[in-house]
Amino acid sequence: MNELLPRQAKVLKVEEQTPIEKLIQLDASLNHQPGQFIEVSVAGVGEAPISICSSPTRKPMEICVRKVGRVTSALHRLSPGDKVGIRGPYGNGFPMEKMKGHDLILVSGGLGMAPLRGVLQYALDHRKDYKEILLLYGIRDYSLMLFKDEIMKLMDSKDCRVYLSYEKEDEVCKNLRKKCPERVCEGVVTKLFGMVDLNPDAYAVVCGPPVMYRFVFKEFMDRNFPPERIYMTMERRMKCGIGKCRHCVVGAGTSMRYVCKDGPVFTGVDALQIKGLIG
Ligand SMILES: Cc1cc2nc3c(=O)[nH]c(=O)nc-3n(C[C@H](O)[C@H](O)[C@H](O)COP(=O)(O)OP(=O)(O)OC[C@H]3O[C@@H](n4cnc5c(N)ncnc54)[C@H](O)[C@@H]3O)c2cc1C
Ligand code: FES
Repeated sequence: MNELLPRQAKVLKVEEQTPIEKLIQLDASLNHQPGQFIEVSVAGVGEAPISICSSPTRKPMEICVRKVGRVTSALHRLSPGDKVGIRGPYGNGFPMEKMKGHDLILVSGGLGMAPLRGVLQYALDHRKDYKEILLLYGIRDYSLMLFKDEIMKLMDSKDCRVYLSYEKEDEVCKNLRKKCPERVCEGVVTKLFGMVDLNPDAYAVVCGPPVMYRFVFKEFMDRNFPPERIYMTMERRMKCGIGKCRHCVVGAGTSMRYVCKDGPVFTGVDALQIKGLIG
């Protein structure tokens, strides 16, 4: 079988999440691991790697797409009933089994909430298997918050402690901060670290824009959090998605890795050893 050959998946639902991001439900079940991605193709346009943003415990499978160029714009034009090509799931994903019995600290910025939503849903669906679940989520403003209904519901729930930072104050954010000043603040996501106690026995799961990693990693290091307990998912330009084309290579020599195959999830130890992994 040609592993580069996509199979067809029907679009079940398309929902606007923010002015630039859409949630797309696909009629597909891949038994994936949270943090894995698929290559999604639109006939006559091209292919793009996109994280699966739902947990394997929830059906149907969902992806969240930010419109930035040719393929993602074509994905934004889809309607229910349309077909896309999919390959995968690819990459290693987050070690959900290994993290059982521990606190989870999820740190996300912007679109990074997409892969972390899969982790969050999985942990909530296996709630007894994990201790405390903390979500530190940084947004630019409320209009750009992904999965608004789910996040707002979680803010009032005992299953997960949500901490929220925003860069531009609007009415919703202002009211949230007034209601919950110990968990909501103005600023970037690293500001939230001042509001939480990091249990060194916890596992951290991080996803955000490239610039975020260096600063988040520093926060963990400054607090003596063990780097081997930090899992970060990385984005690189990709083509094949399966370790054949070398488009996604990081590092060199013995520390050379394929982000598509060896990642996209790397540990804090990798970040210390692989040059250029987190900038
Ligand atoms: C493992 C992985 C998971 C991803 N998950 C998601 C996801 O869940 N949702 C989502 O919306 N996107 C995700 N992406 C990013 C997505 O793959 C790119 O945005 C997409 O490939 C852009 O394709 P395009 O044809 O729309 O853009 P193009 O027309 O190719 O490019 C448009 C612009 O975007 C820039 N660009 C293109 N690809 C990338 C990239 N990988 N990184 C930085 N800049 C880029 C180009 O330089 C150009 O400026 C992921 C990428 C990886 C590697
Ligand atoms: S995308 Fe081809 S080797 Fe990673």
